Amino acid sequence: MAEEGTITGTDERRENGVAVRIFAPATVGNLGCGFDVLGLALEAPGDTVEARRRDEPGVVIEAIEGDGGRLPRDPARNTAALGASAALRVAGVSPSTGLAISLRKGLPLAAGMGGSGASAVAGAVAADRLLGLGLDRRQLLRCASEAEYVGSGSTALDNVAPSLFGGICLALAPTGAEADPHPSPLPTVVELPVPPGVAVALAQPQLETDTRSARAALGDRIRLEDAVVQWGNLAGFVAALFRGDMELLRRTGVDRIAEPIRSAVVPGFRQVREAALGSGALAASLSGSGPAVFALASSRDAAEAAGRAMVDAFAEAGIEARLHLSSVGHQGAREVP
Ligand code: HSE
Repeated sequence: MAEEGTITGTDERRENGVAVRIFAPATVGNLGCGFDVLGLALEAPGDTVEARRRDEPGVVIEAIEGDGGRLPRDPARNTAALGASAALRVAGVSPSTGLAISLRKGLPLAAGMGGSGASAVAGAVAADRLLGLGLDRRQLLRCASEAEYVGSGSTALDNVAPSLFGGICLALAPTGAEADPHPSPLPTVVELPVPPGVAVALAQPQLETDTRSARAALGDRIRLEDAVVQWGNLAGFVAALFRGDMELLRRTGVDRIAEPIRSAVVPGFRQVREAALGSGALAASLSGSGPAVFALASSRDAAEAAGRAMVDAFAEAGIEARLHLSSVGHQGAREVP
């Protein structure tokens, strides 16, 4: 069901004209069988955007930390600034409004952890909170997804939706007639139940994947046989979440569309995935467009075992990988001190 509502936070800071700071978490896009429509939020790490008013009109970037100088400082190309600009536009604020934003990049670049989407979400929410725009979450999602499109070339919402909403989301972009202004160009997000205890391990190899290229590599055709398996898996996976049925999750968390193509450029991927499943994980696949590999497990301990097995398997392939362990992050984007 589509959720309305604004992000809660500390109103005093906004009213005093002091900066607001918004944290938006990392995400696992696709979650295996849900290419472009299913995603999950971690608790951490994530990106943090601080926004404050400035006297001159327009959105500027004051500072970026944690990106090694690699992200664009041009607000027309930076997803945090683009998210903030979209929020100002959607809310119809005066063009004389000025906003300065600082980005603390807690997420690695091009890792498949939803970094550009998290920055876009944090930027849109920061503008909303600072100026009291009162945008609801679907409007904020649309702002973040516009920004993410510039950043990654993807119109998919599977990173931005969970980073904003938290939890596990089925995120549907407006298509066809819905993409017209009438009845509504807003995306639809279904917040899916998270079975108690479910946790995530992410093995992040010291490699990078350019999402645009990873999308281009998929082409625009799939075989009917693969499509049948994939939509069966996606439907089964969603049903398994509602039923808390771990066996059905295990049976259905398989990607027949993107993983076979994209995994070819991740050394050791097959062994990494097998190591995760062999250690008891419910599902394992590329996180987003990779190269990070996620494992979904029924408990934090099981996630840790899967994560360690994945890191070891990467090491055997000669690739150093960093392990991130997290419960599913229920909160999504939020104001932080
Ligand atoms: N669903 C998108 C893709 C996520 O797989 O290309 C990008 O991180």
